[in-house]
Amino acid sequence: MPAFERKDTHAMTRPEVDLAGIKLKNPVLLASGTCGYGQEINDLLDLELLGGLVVKGISLIERPGNPPPRIHETPCGLLNAIGLENVGLERFLSEKLPWLEKIDTAVIVNILGDSVEEYTQIAQRLNGVPGIEGIEVNISCPNVKAGGIAFGADPALAAEVTRRIKMVTSLPVIVKLSPNVTDITVIAKAVEEAGADALSLINTLLGMAIDIKNKRPALANVFGGLSGPAIKPIALRMVWQVARAVEIPVIGIGGISTPSDAIEFFMAGASAIQIGTATLVNPGSAAEVVTGIASFMDKEGIDDIRQIRII
Ligand SMILES: Cc1cc2nc3c(=O)[nH]c(=O)nc-3n(C[C@H](O)[C@H](O)[C@H](O)COP(=O)(O)O)c2cc1C
Repeated sequence: MPAFERKDTHAMTRPEVDLAGIKLKNPVLLASGTCGYGQEINDLLDLELLGGLVVKGISLIERPGNPPPRIHETPCGLLNAIGLENVGLERFLSEKLPWLEKIDTAVIVNILGDSVEEYTQIAQRLNGVPGIEGIEVNISCPNVKAGGIAFGADPALAAEVTRRIKMVTSLPVIVKLSPNVTDITVIAKAVEEAGADALSLINTLLGMAIDIKNKRPALANVFGGLSGPAIKPIALRMVWQVARAVEIPVIGIGGISTPSDAIEFFMAGASAIQIGTATLVNPGSAAEVVTGIASFMDKEGIDDIRQIRII
């Protein structure tokens, strides 16, 4: 018996939104890495109630990820150092996508690479594959050729990877920004200029915890990415800043677990939102957020959630 009962409420899936050419039933998506490839969560959450889902980051070749322990709970957040474990591009296409294709919700594929060439090869292979509505580019990965600096920490590298991906695909390209930078608007503007169709932010914030009994870092990798309620104020601030620095749509991510969290992000300027860690605590969160947004819009008498943006 699952610990949580799946709710098949099919109540309200509106409001529809067009996100850089991607038609979504509503502006609520599941965040990459927190819903696997969809099938894993299907018994606990009706994916067809949502605008879409972003699958776990895909690399060219399968990756085993980091050794355990690779998850650690903090008082209001989660540290993870999964290390981008995934089945690799070809297994994703042959084993995971056929199931996802049957689900009536938008599928966005998160991609990652160690070099510009790896990102480009994946994007090229995904181009024209039925059942994929868009690509989300995780630029938090280190560029092995450039000495390990993360793509997302250098505006020139972030722009280069975006430009090269845009050259090989006609799918909408969403670039996912890292918060581990001094000024996120510099990266956002560089990526917009390079042709990104939308931005999503934020990825996790670098952190750590120490196990004082064992006198060693709690994660085998020492550092991990912090997510969950602890990062919401930072994510909201960055969404506010980026939404005012660029013209392309912004997807807000970071600590969203309730309809009012989501509404704060729309007020800050987001056109859609993603839910990550909250799903691991309550798999029904995203569906509750969809219903809550629709009720809020009814109460406010509005038909476009973007109308609530604070100018
Ligand atoms: C266990 C775990 C795995 C994740 N894996 C990925 C990933 O593969 N690619 C990616 O871009 N983001 C990944 N993320 C980041 C989330 O998509 C999201 O940006 C972040 O957790 C902040 O949102 P939240 O506070 O709602 O979780 C992962 C997060 C968690 C907790």
